[in-house]
Amino acid sequence: MQVTVSSGNNINGTLVLPLFEGAETITDNAEGVPADLKSQINRVLSQGDFKGKANSLMSLYGTEGGKAILVGLGKEDKSTSQTYRDAGATVVAQHKKSHDSELTVVFHASDATEIIAFSEGMMMRDYKYDVYKKTDEDDGKTPLTARINCNEGDASALSLAIDRASAVVSGVHLSRDLGNCPPNDMYPMAFAEMAEKWADEYDNVKVEVIDYETAKRHGMGGLVAVGMGSSRKPCMVIFTLNGDQKGRHPVLVGKGITFDTGGISLKPGANMDEMKYDMGGSATVFGTMQALAAIAYDKKVVGITCMAENMPAANAQRPGDVIKTLSGKTIEILNTDAEGRLVLSDGLWKAGTDFDAEYIIDFATLTGACVVALGHEATGLWSNDDDFRTRIHETSKEVGELAWPMPLLPAFEKEMTNSKIADTRNLGAGRYGGANTAAAFLKQFVPQRGEGDDAEDIPWAHMDIAGTYWGAKTNKMVNHGATGVHVRTLVKFITGE
Ligand code: BES
Ligand code: MN
Ligand code: ZN
Repeated sequence: MQVTVSSGNNINGTLVLPLFEGAETITDNAEGVPADLKSQINRVLSQGDFKGKANSLMSLYGTEGGKAILVGLGKEDKSTSQTYRDAGATVVAQHKKSHDSELTVVFHASDATEIIAFSEGMMMRDYKYDVYKKTDEDDGKTPLTARINCNEGDASALSLAIDRASAVVSGVHLSRDLGNCPPNDMYPMAFAEMAEKWADEYDNVKVEVIDYETAKRHGMGGLVAVGMGSSRKPCMVIFTLNGDQKGRHPVLVGKGITFDTGGISLKPGANMDEMKYDMGGSATVFGTMQALAAIAYDKKVVGITCMAENMPAANAQRPGDVIKTLSGKTIEILNTDAEGRLVLSDGLWKAGTDFDAEYIIDFATLTGACVVALGHEATGLWSNDDDFRTRIHETSKEVGELAWPMPLLPAFEKEMTNSKIADTRNLGAGRYGGANTAAAFLKQFVPQRGEGDDAEDIPWAHMDIAGTYWGAKTNKMVNHGATGVHVRTLVKFITGE
């Protein structure tokens, strides 16, 4: 969806009016509105037919031409950027053919941040995954466009900011496309090929694929154990943005299980199709690389995606197996359905040893227990650094993609390292605190920086997106399917804006 900015007052197509509760008249700067439409709007406002409740919407069709969409912003003293983002999304969600494909948005009095948030909401919500639907060449649908009317002095700065938001949204939508892709077409090497094709489009990005044979040779025992039972073999895909830049840089790591049957510890059949989203962590990483490349971010960032399909098979791993990971540490496999942590063990180790990581953040649809704890409303957030965790939490709140602090406790680490025959075990002792034991397990595979007395922790955060990557019904940016959550959190966290 194209959003442009204009300092004029005229209205093209349908007028969109975001309004707070209690607004009684249409704004003065909506000059080009036909007189009868204007009086219609003023009538529904003054008579209280449209109350401006958050995300309420009313369409008006002028008797002498002209159309308007009124969208509620709720109470003015409670409004935040998210209010505007939601309102923008609501307009697109409820947009009908009869509303025209051209919109002109007129704000009462809003600052740039709010206008950008509204535009972001519109652009984010303008998404459909219909690659697999038969469509008629000419189905009469024209792409939506919106123009924002603003003060003359604000136009050029606003236009730049909206273009940047649009570039970031392209990353969110890429993440959603990857997540929504059915698992017969989304398998580890397919993801790798998509990444390679994507890299052709930018001069400052590089994609390296570590295929199955190479992964075996390098000792990536976690990735290999999870993926070996599938006829579509596992791989690790490494994205580098601005690789020629020297010095410390962020490293992102993604869980990329293109389908999670549970393996030999097979999952029950109901809703198993949802396990196609189990590569949501890798989609987040890929989408973020796209967003950063599209805004022409000029510092170095590395993304590591750990791709595998978890299948039961004659050559699949078994409960009882002991595997050796890239770190040299061993894992006793007690349940093959706790596979995400196995592929991540290699990804995290590589992140901290092969790169000069300023910090490491991993994304994973890791545990059902996290969904039990936080529902679909917040991502679980763990870190070995309190200050780092707080900064991520704050950023996630600012962009409306909430990540909630969870505890990384010594008792959980003890539970995951008390195997009788290996260094670690991939299953907790009981089922309680399952999201926390998973995080404590991952911590065992985050290397330190330096050696001996000079060794220090690399700031690391783990984000469990099992509940927020899909099924998030209250997320107004999404109709259904993959959400593309945290691409915007990361862009803001990494670039500082
Ligand atoms: N991919 C699942 C986690 C998951 C479950 C994500 C439901 C979204 C919705 C993960 O690989 C898994 O199976 N986890 C197990 C871990 C258990 C065996 C320790 C779980 O959560 O039940
Ligand atoms: Mn699993
Ligand atoms: Zn999984």
